[in-house]
Amino acid sequence: MADRKVIAVVGATGAQGGGLVRAIASDPGGGFAARALTRDPGSDKAKELGRLGAEVVAADVDDPESLKKAFAGAYGAFCVTFFWAHFSPEKELAQAKGMAEAARATGLQHVIWSTLEDTRQWVPLDDDRMPTLMGKYKVPHFDAKGEADGLFKASGVPVTLLRTSFFWDNFIHFGSGPKKGPDGGLAITFPLGDARLPGIATEDIGRCAYGIFKDGKSLAGKTIGIAGEHLTGEQMAAALGTALGRPVRYNDVPPDVYRGFGFAGAEDLGNMFQFKRDFNDAYCAARPIEGARRLNPDLQTLDAWLAANKDRIPLE
Ligand SMILES: NC(=O)c1ccc[n+]([C@@H]2O[C@H](COP(=O)([O-])OP(=O)(O)OC[C@H]3O[C@@H](n4cnc5c(N)ncnc54)[C@H](OP(=O)(O)O)[C@@H]3O)[C@@H](O)[C@H]2O)c1
Repeated sequence: MADRKVIAVVGATGAQGGGLVRAIASDPGGGFAARALTRDPGSDKAKELGRLGAEVVAADVDDPESLKKAFAGAYGAFCVTFFWAHFSPEKELAQAKGMAEAARATGLQHVIWSTLEDTRQWVPLDDDRMPTLMGKYKVPHFDAKGEADGLFKASGVPVTLLRTSFFWDNFIHFGSGPKKGPDGGLAITFPLGDARLPGIATEDIGRCAYGIFKDGKSLAGKTIGIAGEHLTGEQMAAALGTALGRPVRYNDVPPDVYRGFGFAGAEDLGNMFQFKRDFNDAYCAARPIEGARRLNPDLQTLDAWLAANKDRIPLE
């Protein structure tokens, strides 16, 4: 371990961070070692990371002192927040502040901040094409991350801002998968019109992050967007249908209808998809597929991801 650069990985038992720990573990000669941060080192997921060779340490992103201890002596850190665990942009900002300060205090040489656009730079609060949410956001879970970019930059630590894409894993875990309609047929529903949705397997986010650490500090100070593919709703439905062996339809709905679906976060996600639709060219251009593949030569297409994961998609 002493001769390797230690990367402290926030969210290591989760999707993005887990992908990074596994990417580091699968390349023992790569010069890096993973330090997996978790609130519970005794959990099954944490123990599994230990078996892969990661150093497992306790830390809570709500506790800045625990972050300083966990970052101490590391070369770099992968920083991520967990909006859907609490639905609070203010909490995300506070957690990002704690991570940025811990990175500065411990003299880290390279940090990756997993972020998204502050959509208010495209859709100011007085633009009524979409409602303002929680008093000062358009897309709360995007805007807080984008606002937190400034906290990482101000820390003076070399930071790469990593703009991720729609997780294809949402078809399994996030309620975005095909649902049965009144006619019994399967459909996916997005308010995207014929816009393209940059998407990616979460495992590939971790692999791209590893590619950024390997490229080194030349990528510090840069904003890097990644995606596995940019696909329309029709194309995603066709890929799902082929993988599942049954037709899947794309159900395009207006953003207002999506915002009114009533599930927790529906308004936030309705605004998010509208932002991706209304600024589609810029949003896709910020997530070049070839750039992601250079960082991660194993980058999956949706078809490849579905071939490996289709049996995990719940069909309601
Ligand atoms: N879904 C999408 O399409 C999408 C796209 C782009 C970005 N995002 C963003 O991705 C973020 C979530 O990333 P993810 O999916 O990789 O996370 P995730 O899989 O939900 O990660 C969960 C892990 O985070 C850890 N965690 C939660 N609260 C913690 C805390 N207070 N202190 C330390 N660790 C904590 C937990 O680890 P322990 O229990 O072991 O502590 C848990 O295993 C969200 O902010 C979301 O907005 C999502």
